[in-house]
Amino acid sequence: MTKLLLVDDEASIRNLLRMTLEMDGYEVLEATDGQEAINVFEKESPELALLDVKLPGMSGMEVLERIRRINPDAEVIMITGHGDMDMAIECLRREASNFLIKPVSEELLSLSLKRSLEKLNLKKKLRQYTHNLETLVREANIELERAYTFRENIIENSPDALVSIRKGGEIILFNSAAERLLGHSKKDVVGKMNIVDLYPPGVAKKIMKDLRSGDFGGKGLLQKREVQILHKSGKTIPVYISAALLFEGGQETGSVGIFTDLSEKKKLEKHLIRSEKLSSLGKLAAGIAHEMNQPLTGILTFASVLMKKFSKDPDTCKDLEVIIRETNRVRGIVQNVLDFSRETPPSKKPVQVQEIVQRALDIMSPPTNFPGIDLKTGFQPNVPDILVDANQMQQVVMNIVINAVEAMHGRGSLTIRTRSSGSNVEIELKDSGPGMSEETLENIFDPFFTAKTSFDALGMGLGLAISYTIVKNHGGEILVTSREDTGSTFTIRLPLLSE
Ligand SMILES: Nc1ncnc2c1ncn2[C@@H]1O[C@H](COP(=O)(O)OP(=O)(O)OP(=O)(O)O)[C@@H](O)[C@H]1O
Ligand SMILES: [Mg+2]
Repeated sequence: MTKLLLVDDEASIRNLLRMTLEMDGYEVLEATDGQEAINVFEKESPELALLDVKLPGMSGMEVLERIRRINPDAEVIMITGHGDMDMAIECLRREASNFLIKPVSEELLSLSLKRSLEKLNLKKKLRQYTHNLETLVREANIELERAYTFRENIIENSPDALVSIRKGGEIILFNSAAERLLGHSKKDVVGKMNIVDLYPPGVAKKIMKDLRSGDFGGKGLLQKREVQILHKSGKTIPVYISAALLFEGGQETGSVGIFTDLSEKKKLEKHLIRSEKLSSLGKLAAGIAHEMNQPLTGILTFASVLMKKFSKDPDTCKDLEVIIRETNRVRGIVQNVLDFSRETPPSKKPVQVQEIVQRALDIMSPPTNFPGIDLKTGFQPNVPDILVDANQMQQVVMNIVINAVEAMHGRGSLTIRTRSSGSNVEIELKDSGPGMSEETLENIFDPFFTAKTSFDALGMGLGLAISYTIVKNHGGEILVTSREDTGSTFTIRLPLLSE
């Protein structure tokens, strides 16, 4: 039921009107003066009001204004006397909905109220409509923002580096993966650097040319290609690049490139090649070494026979001694090669990692054998056992120690530490020697690679190749970091007892 406030100081008029109104189906609230009218209006919030212009105390006009302030949408119909036309017009100016002249005819009242009701309904519909529209706009905004954030997230969290440029090369997008790959931070790149700064000379230009040619995957596209890009440090990094030109209204506006880091893949490939090289070289070497053993034994036997024969001729004996010594040296080398190529599976037993290091050191007995070298050890307590062939692993440690000692030429320090690290156990051997150039570092695990030339430390270049194979057969790896002048660190990483 629609609530209606009826305000008149005359009880007879109120009663008369109330009858008509109730018959028309309104819930009628009454007030006899202005203040009461305001109170009821505030309390009951009727949507319709019938208001006598002339009221005791507060005038009808004033009540109209107060009601308007409380609810601007309420429909207020003023009731005026015959002679009050001016007043009626004033009411309309102050936004009364309508006015009726006393005595109020039933028909006119019903009609007028009907119209007011229609207006109220319209206003309600309009309000609902506006509200719906606002909700729709708000929802659309939220959706838009969500879509934007979603896209931003995809770009930002892509595992591949994403770089976008304006035509001309200015970088406008540089995601987190790009930051990680290239070492630059976003704020130093976006709007500040040009795409040519990210490539070695000439590369960016070539990529743009190929991109526009359409010969590499379609118009404006460049399909997966291997290129080098520049890290902040100046180092080049191998990557795959895929790129696309960006257009707006048919005009080229820029381009976007996706970079996949290939460093790890290259490293794995290199490892694989190295393993294969080691294995095939090993087999070849083993064959040759085997064949050489017999003639070497022959030479040694006959040299000994000759020694006896010429025992009275010291000059010849001296020469024969050289033959025997050098032949023995060759034999040693052959034995080394056979050791290297012998694919004996390691006989593994659980052992404490520091025991391996300690045993290796006991055999080499420093400092007698390493004069001038300051040897330090640090064994982490309670490291779990590892499952290894202790003899083979000992040999690995010895090979690396000997290399370090030889590299330091009687002056420097060697620190050997053992520790557990995640699911691995590590032996770290850090020397203060001359370190290695990048080129040397690339080759040290290759069989027969040696940089040693002086006679007293003539290397065969097998120590690390053998060590590499042994550690690999144990499911581990040898990591090396080295810089010229600051020394080298070899880390033997072995998996914890797992088999
Ligand atoms: N700690 C080190 N410091 C500097 N250079 C090293 C170090 N360890 C290895 N190298 C370099 O790596 C090369 C290869 O080492 P590797 O042990 O395989 O062979 P080698 O010591 O030359 O000969 P071999 O061990 O067969 O007697 C060495 O010749 C040396 O140039
Ligand atoms: Mg060596």
